[in-house]
Amino acid sequence: MVSFRHVLLASSAFLTLTSATNPRPHDTSVCSRQDLKVLSCTPAALTANDRCVESPSGLLLLTQLWNSDPGLGPPDRWTIHGLWPDYCNGSYPVSCDTSRAYSNIIEILEGYGQSRLLNYMRKLWRNDPAITLTNGTDADLWYHEWEKHGTCMSTLRPSCYRSYTSAREAVDYFAQTVFLDRRLPTYDYLAECGIVPSNSSTYARAALEGCVRDANGGGLPHVHCSRQGVLTEVWWYYHLAGRVKGGKYVRTNTTFPSNCPAEGVKYLPKLGSH
Ligand SMILES: *[C@@H]1O[C@H](CO)[C@@H](O)[C@H](O)[C@H]1NC(C)=O
Ligand SMILES: *[C@@H]1O[C@H](CO)[C@@H](O)[C@H](O)[C@H]1NC(C)=O
Ligand SMILES: *[C@@H]1O[C@H](CO)[C@@H](O)[C@H](O)[C@H]1NC(C)=O
Ligand SMILES: *[C@@H]1O[C@H](CO)[C@@H](O)[C@H](O)[C@H]1NC(C)=O
Repeated sequence: MVSFRHVLLASSAFLTLTSATNPRPHDTSVCSRQDLKVLSCTPAALTANDRCVESPSGLLLLTQLWNSDPGLGPPDRWTIHGLWPDYCNGSYPVSCDTSRAYSNIIEILEGYGQSRLLNYMRKLWRNDPAITLTNGTDADLWYHEWEKHGTCMSTLRPSCYRSYTSAREAVDYFAQTVFLDRRLPTYDYLAECGIVPSNSSTYARAALEGCVRDANGGGLPHVHCSRQGVLTEVWWYYHLAGRVKGGKYVRTNTTFPSNCPAEGVKYLPKLGSH
């Protein structure tokens, strides 16, 4: 756990940083051009500098939620769950550095002048009590995702930066997650396949998987359902050349099968969206 004193010290450091609105993704003094070309989860990644290629958690998942109760976010947008680093074999580490488990995410983002990023997160990165944190706020979810997953990213450690400033790597985590989410309009992908939220129609798992696989250039995402056979999540998988922030994301397949029923998957309209 991060101490309260640490939080106060960290936040006072941000006051001098309001001009640093757009931290540079790469730092040439730490990573060479060649380093940044190594693709994660390839043999070359095993011996490469892990500040420049994600290792050993070289499989990145941008995960998105769809929920109908109580209905969070716009009725025609999936929302963000998180950005997760899995090992190349599909198992995964969690909570890797308690000394960087920053709990004051809003303050950190504001300190770095990231109000646009924060606005996006407030609209489209929502805690969904049925799926993520029972009783949690949206900011609790952001903290949880950073603490559990972000702190396990090898290319987001302070030693990856030439001129590191307090908690900057957390800003990079949130900025990159939103960057990826903006490019994954899952609602539109499904709608283009004729798969739209409905109380009466249901869908075959193969139709859902085929649709998101085609949208993903052939890499099969993980399509997740609740125990009631209701579609709740899609997880998009990548290998990565370069760092989490600003690296090249190469789409790939899920490491484990969908838990949705073969037939009769429900994709329900959001209720009372706000
Ligand atoms: C998966 O990879 C990680 C990291 O390389 C390793 O620690 C773990 O034992 C592996 N798990 C399995 C089931 O092979
Ligand atoms: C959530 O809040 C309810 C009502 O206050 C409480 O009974 C429950 O224990 C809480 N659950 C968790 C996981 O904190
Ligand atoms: C779907 O069912 C819910 C709950 O019965 C209802 O509130 C909602 O209006 C229905 N939505 C549509 C689009 O029919
Ligand atoms: C995904 O899996 C399919 C089927 O096994 C395979 O043909 C394809 O090459 C894989 N795609 C990627 C990007 O790994």
